[in-house]
Amino acid sequence: MKVFHIDSSVRGDWSVSKDLTRHFVQQLKEKFPDATIDHLDLAEHIPSHPTPLFIQANYAPADTRSKEMWEALAESNSLVQRMHDANVIVFGVPMHNFSIPSILKAFIDNIVRINETFAMTVDGIEGLLKDKKVYVISTRGVDFNNPHMEAMDQIKPYLRTVFGFIGMTAVEFIDVSPVQFADQEARNEAISKAKQSINVHISNLNTVG
Ligand SMILES: Cc1cc2nc3c(=O)[nH]c(=O)nc-3n(C[C@H](O)[C@H](O)[C@H](O)COP(=O)(O)O)c2cc1C
Repeated sequence: MKVFHIDSSVRGDWSVSKDLTRHFVQQLKEKFPDATIDHLDLAEHIPSHPTPLFIQANYAPADTRSKEMWEALAESNSLVQRMHDANVIVFGVPMHNFSIPSILKAFIDNIVRINETFAMTVDGIEGLLKDKKVYVISTRGVDFNNPHMEAMDQIKPYLRTVFGFIGMTAVEFIDVSPVQFADQEARNEAISKAKQSINVHISNLNTVG
C-alpha cells in the first residue's frame, strides 16, 4: 500500500489538521506496517502557480514540446506521478475563508492535467486517477455543526467536484470544528471525535494496492 500524505496548514506546530493527518498515518501504519508513506507539506513546498508557458506546454502535444516547456511542466509532472503512485491519499485541509488554503488550490492546479489525470473521450470526460481511496481531514476555526454554517462550507462541494473530475470518487470527509474560536472543552471534544472517526475509517480500510 502506498500512501500520499498531503498537509496544507500554514500554522506550523500549532496545526490541528497536521496533528490529525499524523494520527491517521500512525493508525494506518499500525494496521499496515508495510505501507509506504510519501509526505508533502505544502507550506514547506508551495507549488508554483500556472504561467502562460505552463499552460501552452500543458496543451501542446508531448512530441512538440520545447525544452523550456518540459521545464515548465517538471514540477507538475512530479506531483502528478506522486498522485498516480498512491493507493491511499490523505489531505489535511484547514478552512481558509470558507474554502481551501490557496497553497492547496495551487497544488490542485498542478495535478488537474489533460491526458495525465483526465482525458476527453467520445463519451465525455474520463478521470484517470482511478482506484484511489481519498480522505479529507478538514478543520474549521468556528463551529460548523449546524445547517446555517454548513451551507457556507465551500470545501466539501469543491473537493468532491474536482476530485471526481480526475477520477477520485471514493472520498471520505472527516470534518472537524470548532478548533479555534471556542472554549477549550469544545475544541478538545472536536479533536477527540475526529480521532475516533479516523480510527473507524482505518478499521474499515481494506488492503488496496
Ligand atoms: C487565512 C485564514 C482564514 C480562515 N478562515 C476561516 C473560515 O472561513 N472559517 C473558519 O471556521 N475558520 C477559518 N480560519 C481558522 C482555521 O480554519 C483554523 O484555525 C484551522 O482550521 C485550523 O487548522 P490548522 O491548525 O491545521 O491550520 C481561518 C484561518 C486562516 C489562517
